[in-house]
Amino acid sequence: MKFEEMINKIHLDDCYEMIKEIPDNSIDCVYIDIPYLFVNNGYQSSPLSQRIKKLRQVDLVGITEGIDYSIYSEILRVMKKINCFIWCSKNQILDTLNFFVKNGCMFEILTWNKTNPTPTTNNVFLPDIEYCLYFKEKGVKLNDGYDLKSKWFISQINKSDKDKYNHPTIKPLELVKRHLLHTTQENDIILDCFCGSGTTCVAAKELNRRFIGIEINEKYHKIACDRLNGIDANGQMSIFTDFEKLESEE
Ligand SMILES: C[S@@+](CC[C@H](N)C(=O)[O-])C[C@H]1O[C@@H](n2cnc3c(N)ncnc32)[C@H](O)[C@@H]1O
Repeated sequence: MKFEEMINKIHLDDCYEMIKEIPDNSIDCVYIDIPYLFVNNGYQSSPLSQRIKKLRQVDLVGITEGIDYSIYSEILRVMKKINCFIWCSKNQILDTLNFFVKNGCMFEILTWNKTNPTPTTNNVFLPDIEYCLYFKEKGVKLNDGYDLKSKWFISQINKSDKDKYNHPTIKPLELVKRHLLHTTQENDIILDCFCGSGTTCVAAKELNRRFIGIEINEKYHKIACDRLNGIDANGQMSIFTDFEKLESEE
């Protein structure tokens, strides 16, 4: 496939294969939320969490096995300059930091702090923070703005988004837009190769950036494509979003 044909589409594909087709130095920003890696810390999970895990098993395929870190070399190859966000679980922070820092990047640890996490934790801290590592090299210009520069974002858990787009690890659209507004310019090309319900692609579209999305799971791929067209996972058109947009433009 020609590079131009990849742009502004969400592809149903395996990103480890498809990324090889993306030319060197062609992407302005990589924004990914990698499949998390849950490790057993020696704690026995409670009967309740075992039951929830079983109920969600189908939904969690492809989301909890972690990644093959070889994709990081491909990500470096395709970027014009290193400008990259990686949402990851706490168990993936060390490997990810090591890789990018060894490659000469500056980094920040950005967080999403949740005000109402599940209270049942089985002898560990509350799951009320998610981590997003940001890497850049010298020469990547950041846009100014007090809110854009903030390293943290506070909100409730986004249950309504999960219900609307049927993805267990969907990220807040408002936060993704804030990150992209800070680090990219109009028409830039943003790559999300683990695109899930398409949050990055929707953010890019709404901000007049171009995007390439890749998702391996057929169900999530359809949800993401529909979402780009304003249709949620229940088949509802999001007309209210459009009204809000129109009002703010008046
Ligand atoms: C953590 S989720 C991303 C959620 C997304 N940020 C959102 O807001 O909806 C990771 C996604 O990567 C997908 N995935 C896993 N392995 C993949 C692969 N090899 N190629 C493409 N997508 C993959 C999973 O199906 C899952 O939807």
